Amino acid sequence: MQPELIIIHQQVAPYVAHIQLNRPKDLNALNLQLMGELRDALKQLEADNQVRAIVLSGDERAFAAGADIKQMMGNSAIDMYNIDQFSTWDTIKKIKKPIIAAVSGFALGGGCELAMLCDMIVASETARFGQPEIKLGVMPGAGGTQRLTRAVGKALAMEMVLTGRFITAQEALHAGLINRIVPVELFLQEAIKLAAEVAAMSPLALKMAKEAVLKAFDSSLEEGLVFERKNFYLLFASDDQKEGMKAFVEKRQPDFKGK
Ligand code: CAA
Repeated sequence: MQPELIIIHQQVAPYVAHIQLNRPKDLNALNLQLMGELRDALKQLEADNQVRAIVLSGDERAFAAGADIKQMMGNSAIDMYNIDQFSTWDTIKKIKKPIIAAVSGFALGGGCELAMLCDMIVASETARFGQPEIKLGVMPGAGGTQRLTRAVGKALAMEMVLTGRFITAQEALHAGLINRIVPVELFLQEAIKLAAEVAAMSPLALKMAKEAVLKAFDSSLEEGLVFERKNFYLLFASDDQKEGMKAFVEKRQPDFKGK
């Protein structure tokens, strides 16, 4: 079935796909249908050998203004438990290919959390990041208290989570939440450019390197180092390692096959 609330653009650059959240009137609020379509699209791109990196964007006004408040406002705790909306997020978390968020305008609540679930964030000068759930009488539920704190530290995370204040792209860059700020008219183009740079690498090495960096968030240094070393050794079983090193010695660009 064709998705209705997202648009999938294939091959926007070599080996790069782009998923656009497409509920502009609702500032790309993340309802259950949209999140289900996003999960399915990511799983499809994960299985596609022609895709090595993925860009996720909204539009110029909003990346996403959070979970859909209107959809969840009447729910009981048991409804929330049964709906289990975060199982979708758990699947997205397991995507092994690198995902780059292209953020312009609002990235709030679940929108900020979705951007943080990506591996890098390219932001326009108009980007605003926030966890305003506290103003709704709740709190972040899709990783905001954890990923934001790890990214920006306790002081700013506490302030954002307890006051709901939005931070600017400049503050986000300064705090280490995002990778770069670009002019608003270029935000998507620059994200695709970064994705294309990534997609030129060995897809196997990309997946294992992403896995190892993420391991740093939930392991001791010693466990993380052991994990890193295993992935490093494992890559010597790949054709891409032979090709990458041979190309270096022969002073040419490598031709990675993902094998
Ligand atoms: N859910 C549902 N609808 C939303 C929405 C959301 N999170 N955010 C915006 N919209 C809708 C508005 O209701 C409005 O729809 P109508 O035209 O039908 O009234 C439309 O999008 C445009 O929004 P505004 O008129 O409010 O636009 P604005 O420019 O005046 O304000 C804004 C923009 C500051 C982002 C404001 O819309 C806002 O505060 N949105 C809510 C942000 C928020 O609280 N997000 C957290 C959600 S909870 C969550 O995400 C939980 C979690 O951890 C998973």
